Amino acid sequence: MGLLTKAPRGTADLLPAESHKIQYLETVFSEIARSYGFREIRVPVFEHTELFHRSVGETTDVVQKEMYTFNDNGGRSITLRPEGTAGVARALLEHGLYSEAMPQKFYYQISCYRYEKPQAGRLREFHQFGVECFGSASPAADAEVIGLANRFFQTLSLDNLHLEINSIGCPKCRAAYHKALKAYFTAHIDSLCDTCKGRLEKNPMRILDCKSPVCSAIAAKAPVILDYLCDDCKEHFAGVQKNLDVLSIPYTVNPRIVRGLDYYTRTVFEFVSDAIGAQGTVCGGGRYDGLVAEMGGSALPALGFAMGVERLRLLMENTGKYFPEPEGYDLFLICADPAAFDTVSRLTAELRDMLLNVERDLCDRSVKAQMKYANKIGARYTAVLGENEIQSGSVTVKNMHTGDTASLPLDDFADRFLSLLNDDSLREWSDDTHAPQTGGFTVLDGGKKKD
Ligand code: HAM
Repeated sequence: MGLLTKAPRGTADLLPAESHKIQYLETVFSEIARSYGFREIRVPVFEHTELFHRSVGETTDVVQKEMYTFNDNGGRSITLRPEGTAGVARALLEHGLYSEAMPQKFYYQISCYRYEKPQAGRLREFHQFGVECFGSASPAADAEVIGLANRFFQTLSLDNLHLEINSIGCPKCRAAYHKALKAYFTAHIDSLCDTCKGRLEKNPMRILDCKSPVCSAIAAKAPVILDYLCDDCKEHFAGVQKNLDVLSIPYTVNPRIVRGLDYYTRTVFEFVSDAIGAQGTVCGGGRYDGLVAEMGGSALPALGFAMGVERLRLLMENTGKYFPEPEGYDLFLICADPAAFDTVSRLTAELRDMLLNVERDLCDRSVKAQMKYANKIGARYTAVLGENEIQSGSVTVKNMHTGDTASLPLDDFADRFLSLLNDDSLREWSDDTHAPQTGGFTVLDGGKKKD
């Protein structure tokens, strides 16, 4: 296939037959994020390259190997965002939001770009749902942020996911840890990849999440940071665990989680599944108490997470979880005579004004072919409009599932059809036993409340 008809490697189209699934996840995520006090932020797809060097870190895989960086026509170095935290922190600083009442809580639904080797659950353009919370150092904030992600997964009935937490300390406790890591990796220096040889001096912790199989085998036996935590960090980590217990959120402590980005301090966590192959981390996050100061602001504790939407969807599909059906068509108006054409046009527009999903023929089909097409798209109702209907002022609508018909007056067609549809919907909703019991999500309410 030529370049004109094949999308770049590592990207994926989202076709109409699937897009409702992502819309569902977006709606559930944003409703839960708002219920936890987060408000939406939208930040640019590209930022100054320097931002990611500073925040994500010079020695990370993301910055060293994976960024889409280019000079724009004005000669600035620009990078497509590989993640969302840096841009949100930049926006907080740029707009002076740090002087507002704390905490400042943001959620986002974004695309991200990383030049990685594509495989199941790993793309070059992918999507994240995330939250960032600025201004609280309390371990209760950690538990709330983790609790939000946990609530989201519960709402989707995802049981094949477990939460792993760790603390990677603060710059104070990290000095001793770096020393121990350096000593350990120096003993294996000949086996390390070239990138990791370079990391040994500058940032030995980054060797712990190198993707090369040899480096990861060596890293698996390296000293763990939990053994080097200072008293404050130990107390904070104990507080996080206590607050998770209060909220009855199950977790395991995994001292090997370090996360792949440099800004983290103290709590780090991941929600991991074994149902989606090698890329099993669906959600990752943690504290980054030093980032805002690193970017030139005053010290401001912060934390957040992001989850990969493609991995989330894969997990939902692989474990057979509920997705709502794609929105169907309420009515197909069949035009049986050129004399009825304008009436069909007007009625279609009137019904669409009521936000009903209405289709009509735009391809000069015969009546028979229009019927066939209405069937193919799964229209719930059809109505035929010809000379007879115009003259008699009454139209017969047919329920395509039950075969029931009803005669509606042409001059009040739209309102009468809406009542008919709502009566029918009520009956069908009360039969619907598939949707998870999640309370008041508009997306799960059956969708159609057009009156
Ligand atoms: P991250 O671990 O780099 O963290 O990415 C978060 C999630 O994005 C991953 O757990 C994974 O589900 C998804 N993801 C990452 N790379 C890819 C890829 N190439 N293809 C598909 N999905 C991917 C962050 O990005 C941090 N900003 C999270 C955070 C927010 N920490 C604090 N606040």
